[in-house]
Amino acid sequence: MAARLLIRRAAISAARPVFASPFRAACLYSTAEKPPSSAAAAQSPPSEPDTHFGFQTVKESLKAGKVAEVFSSVASSYDVMNDAMSFGIHRLWKDYFVRSLNPGRNPGGQPMSILDVAGGTGDIAFRMLDHAEKINADRETSVICADINADMLREGEKRALEQGYMSTNRISFRVENAETLDSVPDNSIDLYTISFGIRNVTRIPMALAAAHRVLKPGGVFACLEFSKVSLAPLDTIYQQYSFSVIPLMGQLIAGDRDSYQYLVESIKNFPSQEQFAQMVKEAGFMNVGKGYEELTFGVASIWKGVKPLDSK
Ligand SMILES: C[S@@+](CC[C@H](N)C(=O)[O-])C[C@H]1O[C@@H](n2cnc3c(N)ncnc32)[C@H](O)[C@@H]1O
Repeated sequence: MAARLLIRRAAISAARPVFASPFRAACLYSTAEKPPSSAAAAQSPPSEPDTHFGFQTVKESLKAGKVAEVFSSVASSYDVMNDAMSFGIHRLWKDYFVRSLNPGRNPGGQPMSILDVAGGTGDIAFRMLDHAEKINADRETSVICADINADMLREGEKRALEQGYMSTNRISFRVENAETLDSVPDNSIDLYTISFGIRNVTRIPMALAAAHRVLKPGGVFACLEFSKVSLAPLDTIYQQYSFSVIPLMGQLIAGDRDSYQYLVESIKNFPSQEQFAQMVKEAGFMNVGKGYEELTFGVASIWKGVKPLDSK
């Protein structure tokens, strides 16, 4: 059966003019400096709240566009860069993340409906399907790979073709903003995942509220994200590596220093493990255990929450 390709190109092209020029302008300046005011910035209502874009302060309405510019720029080199920057460790974290969720039908149960938000090039979605099939003998569980950026999803589609998933109805790709998840009905999802995506979202509480809305009661929220290194000597080395080596790698491998500078700044800005666990709780989820599990001394962490059965 033909795969469901629901990339709504109109949505992304409609969004582009909002963000294209301000980001390019910002790239000419160091991250500590403010970019010159642009037409788009001038049009922002004066009362609009500010937010972070890496270490820059920008109006909320501009952030999603700037983030989209970053990921459009890195889309074709994203997988190679991930391996280079993390020495392949991101694969181990993602394997562990998926294994810990054990996706797929339990004996006698129904296939699962999984939503992978900020799914990018499909790293988590493919692992979910592989696990469901190989561990739970389930070829019916399906994954929606949703992302705000059509360029990232197109890379995912290419991989789905190579891996033989495009000829099944088990994966679909959709342009969606994590803050709204417009096309996803209430109480329709068994498992919501977001991997290395939440820190890029402008209004994280809105994304958590959307996750809560789309999950069925009893459904699971799971987030894999960079976090705060818990071992002081390792943190010193890690900060040196992040701010000196990663932007340089971005320049040499992907020809794009600024995007990788943003990525390391956005990691630094993300809340602590405890703070984010509290945000998950405030969104209406029951934390699993203390709410998070650190990987590699806190370089990354996994947060999990369950939507209570008595939720609407
Ligand atoms: C670092 S990549 C992670 C991709 C993939 N989940 C992985 O683990 O390899 C971050 C992704 O978040 C997406 N993203 C950023 N803001 C988003 C938003 N508001 N809604 C949905 N996706 C978003 C980006 O387009 C990008 O594909």
